Amino acid sequence: MIVIPGPSSPGLGEKVAEGLGVEVVPVEHRLFPDGESYIRLKGSVRGEEVVIVQTTSPPQDRHLIQLFLLARTAKDYGAEKVVAVVPYLAYARQDKRFLEGEALSIDVVIRLIEASGVDALLTLDIHSPDVLERFTIPVKSLSAIPLIAEHLKAKGFEGAFSLSPDKGAIELAKMGDAVLGGGYDALEKARDRHTGEVRTREKRLPVEGRDVIIFDDMISTGGTMALAVGLAKKCGARRVVAACTHPLLVGRAVERILEAGADEIVGTDSVPGPHSVVSVAPLIVEGLSDLL
Ligand code: R5P
Repeated sequence: MIVIPGPSSPGLGEKVAEGLGVEVVPVEHRLFPDGESYIRLKGSVRGEEVVIVQTTSPPQDRHLIQLFLLARTAKDYGAEKVVAVVPYLAYARQDKRFLEGEALSIDVVIRLIEASGVDALLTLDIHSPDVLERFTIPVKSLSAIPLIAEHLKAKGFEGAFSLSPDKGAIELAKMGDAVLGGGYDALEKARDRHTGEVRTREKRLPVEGRDVIIFDDMISTGGTMALAVGLAKKCGARRVVAACTHPLLVGRAVERILEAGADEIVGTDSVPGPHSVVSVAPLIVEGLSDLL
């Protein structure tokens, strides 16, 4: 078995290879002057089970194309099996036609992944689990929330209240609570499908003078998280941590969340960046066992 650390996940790819105790095949990559991606494998994959580690955080489209090029090239050069580790799966939020005439984006992405030669896929905290049923190859989504909660417990947050910013993410708050043990709840959120604006219904939370951890699958613009942080502060929370598996943190997300009153933003290296303090490598290594 060998690991190919893709251009979007070089550090995580190396850690996964280390955890599996296998060699990596490095990738040469660059952009042509017109923006097209160039990919070259710098080692042999013939007869190997190949694990490609390539997240598809922004720029999503480029990272997806790189994933397709890597998978096809590995197959062309005789890889026996290609397993894609895509910690953040782009377009997973567009899993329905919310408005008439919209593209069903995740279904197109799934077809392209499968057509490029990927034989199995591992992702983390996928936005909605029913997307997994649309693949025809073996696929699984693991949660990094217990790892994040363990990290926070070790930093003194045992007994903190776990909160999810919308009902759909209550399982995340439940998982956080299983480690932190301070109770959990979910807020109610609504998004305007035309403007993208998010609203959170006011709610009394039992957090007066207590620490609160808000768990979400991802933070993109920070709008959802900022509202949840603001509400926790309004209910008297002491320290508030904004935690997520995929810290996309686009634009002013960090400022918005901190201005709302958060003390800290904690994410994982599913999406590398300054707030990616928890590594998902051990989770991926463990999760690969039944996909290989
Ligand atoms: C949506 O339901 C997700 O779980 C996140 O809450 C949301 O996508 C985050 O987006 P933003 O940071 O732009 O509010």
